[in-house]
Amino acid sequence: MKDFLHISDFDKATIMKILDRAAEVKAQLKSGDRSFAPFKGKTMAMIFAKPSMRTRVSFETGFFLLGGHAIYLGPDDIQMGKREETRDVARVLSRYNDIIMARVFGHQDILDLAKFSSVPVINGLTDYNHPCQIMADALTIIEHIGQLEGTKVVYVGDGNNIVHSWLLLASVVPFHFVCACPKGFEPDKETVEKAQKAGISKIEITNDAKEAVKGADVVYSDVWASMGQKEEAAHRRQVFQGFQVDEALMKIAGPKAYFMHCLPAERGVEVTDGVIEAPNSIVFPQAENRMHAQNAIMLHALGL
Ligand code: CP
Ligand code: NVA
Repeated sequence: MKDFLHISDFDKATIMKILDRAAEVKAQLKSGDRSFAPFKGKTMAMIFAKPSMRTRVSFETGFFLLGGHAIYLGPDDIQMGKREETRDVARVLSRYNDIIMARVFGHQDILDLAKFSSVPVINGLTDYNHPCQIMADALTIIEHIGQLEGTKVVYVGDGNNIVHSWLLLASVVPFHFVCACPKGFEPDKETVEKAQKAGISKIEITNDAKEAVKGADVVYSDVWASMGQKEEAAHRRQVFQGFQVDEALMKIAGPKAYFMHCLPAERGVEVTDGVIEAPNSIVFPQAENRMHAQNAIMLHALGL
């Protein structure tokens, strides 16, 4: 039983093995070779309680390209926890499918799905974390910089689910992670402590974006109001002034800094159009790598 719920559920060797496999299968797919079909005869149920473009399309396409069939279940289809209890959804879907992927609101929902499912469950984002995204991000950093170990990744914005996944990765793989966020929008305290206590990576949480980005290898941004927080968007735009990644901030970061964003982006809000369109922005290779990272995660989860 190999769920993929948090990066920190795995040791460094396993994470690096999954990333190596991602690069290997990516190369094969990019060469046009479609002979590798490990998911032949397998089906995947994909539960979405929230909207998605990348997660839905990258999982569905990736599973199909490797021989399998994926079933999209949108917010109105299952209504997990409303029309039917999560534990019942888990037990029914695992009788039809070989693997379940889910994007949910409360983190407890993914834990409950995994607890009651008899097949592997992959976390496609919760209010707490987004491990598949950060695996894709790590793959992208390795491709562009050569390695993740020793790089300085500076996240600027809300201390949200993306930050929690960076922190959980930093608790198993050594790098330098800095989160610069407004006061009151820091990441979950326990998760920060877990990453610091692991003693693997250098972890900094600060309210000073300009100081934070100095010498960064990667400056990373995400929306200021996540899914489920959209009614707070106007208020957050006020509070987050000074945390926009603009040309001036990238200049402070220095010439070697790449720009990354998990997307979707609100141009002109958390990042300027100029930064996202600049030559050192790697947001589209990053988005592409969602599929390759997830293919390797699913191979690992299915023991293939
Ligand atoms: N980055 C990401 O998860 O995108 P979607 O919300 O479009 O799936
Ligand atoms: N923090 C964002 C990430 C979207 C991929 C959200 O949860 O909406």
